[in-house]
Amino acid sequence: MSRRKLAAGNWKMNGTRAALSELQALVSAHPDPSVDILICPPSTLLRDAAALADTAPLDIGGQDCHSEATGAHTGDISAPMLTDAGATHVILGHSERRENHNESSELVRAKARAAHAAGLTAIICLGESLSEREAANTLDIIAGQLSSSVPDATTAVNTVIAYEPIWAIGTGLTPTVAQIDEVHDFIRTRLITRFGPDIGNGVRLLYGGSVKPSNAAEIFETDNVDGALVGGASLKQSDFSPIIKALEESA
Ligand code: PGA
Repeated sequence: MSRRKLAAGNWKMNGTRAALSELQALVSAHPDPSVDILICPPSTLLRDAAALADTAPLDIGGQDCHSEATGAHTGDISAPMLTDAGATHVILGHSERRENHNESSELVRAKARAAHAAGLTAIICLGESLSEREAANTLDIIAGQLSSSVPDATTAVNTVIAYEPIWAIGTGLTPTVAQIDEVHDFIRTRLITRFGPDIGNGVRLLYGGSVKPSNAAEIFETDNVDGALVGGASLKQSDFSPIIKALEESA
């Protein structure tokens, strides 16, 4: 099955309005991309980013949402608010949220349901810690996170899975291509078993964790890698564009 590739940038807690010039540069550099391009800026920039991307082949996403649509949840943002601001995607269950905000897989699943109800595509993140990998528990951890974080109503359109080994995020360390291949094949097989071949083969699988221009092409050669979730190297157009180009060349 051919899946359209996706280059997704996660700006995390980086960027004031001055950073919109990077987004403008990205739009100018990729007028007709052969892959999907997504930027998830901080929520303060969503409206401006969505306006800038309005007529361009660039999607805008949030980095988290609440599991409820409205209510007394100071500081939180709901899925309908993201949609209203112009987002089409939302990252959920990033390891920084699982760790810093004690998010369980069950909460991530509730958030994904809320995202789906609001018409957003949920990018659900999974990944093992270094100690879990060293104890040879990677596939068990991934299996648990996958079954508990991903809702039953998952489709190839409303859900993307990102494999992000925690030890590779922001560290400059990356797994070997064989290690990425093993986990992505495992996730693919699990998705097919749970959702059947159409949905299981249709959901896109991203790799994330220290993806940069120098290692992107090698990572994208892997069969079940349908793109990347990129943190640091998505902040500057000059870093992100070569990654997008490498993905286009692998497609
Ligand atoms: P990184 O972050 O590319 O800076 O390692 C990836 C992520 O956390 O999504």
